[in-house]
Amino acid sequence: MKKYAILCSGGDCQGMNACIKAFVNTCNAHGQKAIGVLRGFQGLIDNEFIDLKDEMVENIANIGGTIIKTSRSEEFTTPSGFQKSLKNLKKHNIDSLVILGGDGSFRGAAELHKNGIKVICIPSTIDNDLFYTDNTLGFDTAVMNAVAAIDNIKQTMSSTDKAMIIELMGRNCGDIALYTALVIGADSVALAEVDTKIKNIVSDVSLSIERGCKSPVVIMSEALDYSVKDVEKAIQKHLGLEVRSSELGYIQRGGAPSLLDRMLAVEFAIRAFMLLNEGKSGFALGVDDNFVFDIPIEEANQAPKRFRKDLLNKLYILKNRVN
Ligand code: F6P
Repeated sequence: MKKYAILCSGGDCQGMNACIKAFVNTCNAHGQKAIGVLRGFQGLIDNEFIDLKDEMVENIANIGGTIIKTSRSEEFTTPSGFQKSLKNLKKHNIDSLVILGGDGSFRGAAELHKNGIKVICIPSTIDNDLFYTDNTLGFDTAVMNAVAAIDNIKQTMSSTDKAMIIELMGRNCGDIALYTALVIGADSVALAEVDTKIKNIVSDVSLSIERGCKSPVVIMSEALDYSVKDVEKAIQKHLGLEVRSSELGYIQRGGAPSLLDRMLAVEFAIRAFMLLNEGKSGFALGVDDNFVFDIPIEEANQAPKRFRKDLLNKLYILKNRVN
């Protein structure tokens, strides 16, 4: 019987639990032992390993977060933290590890692979900022949550003809904001990838008002050099509208995974198990046109930044705006 470990690293995302369940079930069904490492890379250092049994994961597929916890471990990037991790893996007789995380976690995984641990990475972050894959685990649900929340906010704002400014998560990647803006038909969107000035937002909103819109919506991504409050003040000053603003925050990261994320979770888990079982290592999983594939982690890490300008253009068409 072989031991296959799994850990989550970085920000949690929806679908992690579904993936853990599918991985544990596959291991047990094939007579192998599934081990959970608690709190990501930090758990490797602190020697937090647990046996994962089918009964422990029976009812977790529809729950957000991760039952084995996660962390952003600074210590793992130090030589001593890294050596402690290798030592603990050896102590538990584990040489195969599945890592769920984002780009930082992939870099850690590549180091483990170079040091003889068999690793498979599963792209897991709401940000969708791993550009070698169409989708990361959690992204679809994060957008779904953002859309649902904004639909609700819009109902109350439009009852009193107020404008609303919403900032969405994504770090340096504007995908959550872009997809959400298109789906809800935002009146203006400001993304980390595009140099949108506050005056552009004001003129977008002004155009929507001229066309009869009473409750315009502005969507902003993270990592801009101005805040929702700056935009709120500018709209109030130049257009005289009553405005409310909010950073939507962690509601985007919690909750039950969407069907797409559950599908990805299961497919990624099975592929990771199969690769490890074939003795393969150093691969990142991805999805291309709904089909799961694997590529070397180094290649995944070097994928050029992708920006869906075509989706932004569709929003411009929807609003008949010049880009
Ligand atoms: O990477 C996922 C993410 O939710 C980002 O969108 C956000 O900027 C960040 O994590 C927040 O990180 P933390 O929960 O560690 O504060």
